[in-house]
Amino acid sequence: MALTGLLETSLKLILFGGKGGVGKTTCASIAGLYLANNNKNTLLISTDPAHSLADSMGKEIGDEIKQIEGVDKLSALEISAEKALSGFKIEYDAELRRLFDTSTYLDKEDIDSIIALPIPGIDEVMGFKTILNLIEEGKFDKYIVDTAPTGHALRLLTFPELLDDWIKVLAKMRWKYRYMVTSFAGKYKPDSADDFLMSMKKTVKKIEGLLKDQSRCEFIIVTIPEDMAIKETERLIGSLNQYGMKVKQLIINNVIPDGSRCPFCQARREGQDRYIGDIRNKFSNLKITIVPLQPHEVKGVDALRNLGSIVFAA
Ligand SMILES: Nc1ncnc2c1ncn2[C@@H]1O[C@H](COP(=O)(O)OP(=O)(O)OP(=O)(O)O)[C@@H](O)[C@H]1O
Ligand SMILES: [Mg+2]
Repeated sequence: MALTGLLETSLKLILFGGKGGVGKTTCASIAGLYLANNNKNTLLISTDPAHSLADSMGKEIGDEIKQIEGVDKLSALEISAEKALSGFKIEYDAELRRLFDTSTYLDKEDIDSIIALPIPGIDEVMGFKTILNLIEEGKFDKYIVDTAPTGHALRLLTFPELLDDWIKVLAKMRWKYRYMVTSFAGKYKPDSADDFLMSMKKTVKKIEGLLKDQSRCEFIIVTIPEDMAIKETERLIGSLNQYGMKVKQLIINNVIPDGSRCPFCQARREGQDRYIGDIRNKFSNLKITIVPLQPHEVKGVDALRNLGSIVFAA
């Protein structure tokens, strides 16, 4: 009946995902406060372009890691995909130019415009690259990710595949160049552009390895007892499984407390019970945590901690 296993030392990356408005940010914030309170140095990360961690916490958060004021051991970061992308382009400018320059007939202006082009899916790619870099730096015990609604979160997870496709195209271009150099010069010495491709390939492997490693990474689904949310949960679990990520637990949020004397609330709860039953049947292999609907919005550290005592009750 409560979320478990989050304190395991091996578990580094915890992602909260689900349909729009079901309580992902609230649950991620609650988990962050719980872990910090249990002496885990925790970083709460938002990858949702419409960041709302700061509103949930009632604290200032930005695109630089910042300790949450008044909360020991909890820091937060709202990833700016744009900033991450421009950082990436600056860091690898020479290598990217070299790749295009040696492998195509483009002139400098053409290469400038290719590098400046917006690339579809790049925000998710950069978001994940930033997360991986942070995990590798290892300054925190736990990294909690508040994802954007389902579609966006799934694209985040297909990042390694997307990046792998790019690398394949670039590697093919390089291979032709390599073949030419070898034919004329007799031998080929790998340069910084080859190193760049190799290191990107390693990044893809590392991310895939991390996401599929159940001891290091967990994806927790948040849903509500409503028909559309259940359908979306099914699709999300299906896609995650296909991707090789096994979901272990699920949160049903906004459940009206039982035994209310208000006939309206009781009728709503009975309707919810049907869907809760459906969820239990459909996902009988998952651990289910019921989170009650609160009389007020759950905003600010105190309200989040209060609800947290239910979410993490033994
Ligand atoms: N158990 C609850 N009881 C009452 N209010 C809740 C509860 N859980 C979440 N809320 C409120 O519902 C609203 C939506 O929650 P939240 O922002 O966590 O959802 P989300 O899934 O992150 O939304 P989005 O898809 O837009 O990112 C917030 O105002 C939050 O305070
Ligand atoms: Mg949110």
